[in-house]
Amino acid sequence: MAKILTITLNPALDLTVRLAQLEPGDVNRSQALLTHAAGKGINVAQVLADLGHKVTVSGFLGEDNQQAFNALFTRRGFADAFIRVPGETRSNIKLAEDDGRVTDINGPGPHVNDLAQQALLDKLDQIAASHDAVVVAGSLPRGISAQWLRELVLRLKKLGLKVILDTSGEALKEGLSAGPWLVKPNAEELREALGRPVDSVESQVAAATHLQTLGISHVVISHGADGVSWFSRGAQTLHAQPPKVRVASTVGAGDSLLAGMVHGLISNHSPEQTLRTATAIAAMAVTQIGFGISDALQLTTLENGVDVRALTQE
Ligand SMILES: Nc1ncnc2c1ncn2[C@@H]1O[C@H](COP(=O)(O)OP(=O)(O)OP(=O)(O)O)[C@@H](O)[C@H]1O
Ligand SMILES: [Mg+2]
Repeated sequence: MAKILTITLNPALDLTVRLAQLEPGDVNRSQALLTHAAGKGINVAQVLADLGHKVTVSGFLGEDNQQAFNALFTRRGFADAFIRVPGETRSNIKLAEDDGRVTDINGPGPHVNDLAQQALLDKLDQIAASHDAVVVAGSLPRGISAQWLRELVLRLKKLGLKVILDTSGEALKEGLSAGPWLVKPNAEELREALGRPVDSVESQVAAATHLQTLGISHVVISHGADGVSWFSRGAQTLHAQPPKVRVASTVGAGDSLLAGMVHGLISNHSPEQTLRTATAIAAMAVTQIGFGISDALQLTTLENGVDVRALTQE
């Protein structure tokens, strides 16, 4: 069991409203309202906890609507190192109709000022070094620049930590230049961050080689239902093809893959086993409305269905 810190700079309160059919402009009656504390780092934390690890969660939380987050942290036994900021954590409203259509309305997050930014850095200086790894995941809230994220990665590295980064856009671009230990972009995120195509195996090899020169040991590129490629410095490049599964919701698939990779690497599992289990955990996420390791037997079945092979160049 390892001790892992996850940092979610811009968490979200997911509000799912179930209704038969949305009538815009009318009074609608909902069948149910579900509230979930979410955000990529918090999702990763939950899967890591399912895998038996001790987790500390950090980042910024709006102080006016923190109840669901506090309840989750207590229920899951997370050490809470979040900095509270004035205002509300953003709410992402999902209007889910009977026919499967989902309308998303994503709210703005709180503004994170210099004082709160410094408070987080001070807190991390105090607590981070006692962890085996740190996962920085998700988007940036208002007030936080991509350069700040880059500095954060550098600071965590200086504390001696293995830094795992999963973000997108300018934040990913800047974060990559800080040379984290592991990154897990999907192909589109990587294309955008590098400004060059990564659709062929050759272009992915070239991109991964470039990222390795920045000091990134593990480049994990995810391709949705087409699986995942793992470029690791000094080791064989592997590709995993997940088994065909019925998709209930892809929410948390990337976070599950990331948690599985961190789990295998930190636990010193073989590369083949690490990628197989991580891919199975991600496949399990898509079979559920939520995510997480709810059924150990199903996980074993999925693991047996993953095809891991060496990714060879043409
Ligand atoms: N339909 C699917 N069937 C099986 N596995 C899937 C499917 N979709 C995604 N996965 C698994 O989940 C992993 C991550 O998915 P994806 O590449 O979509 O990540 P992502 O875009 O980062 O997702 P997220 O939106 O959660 O951040 C894939 O590499 C794959 O292993
Ligand atoms: Mg993702």
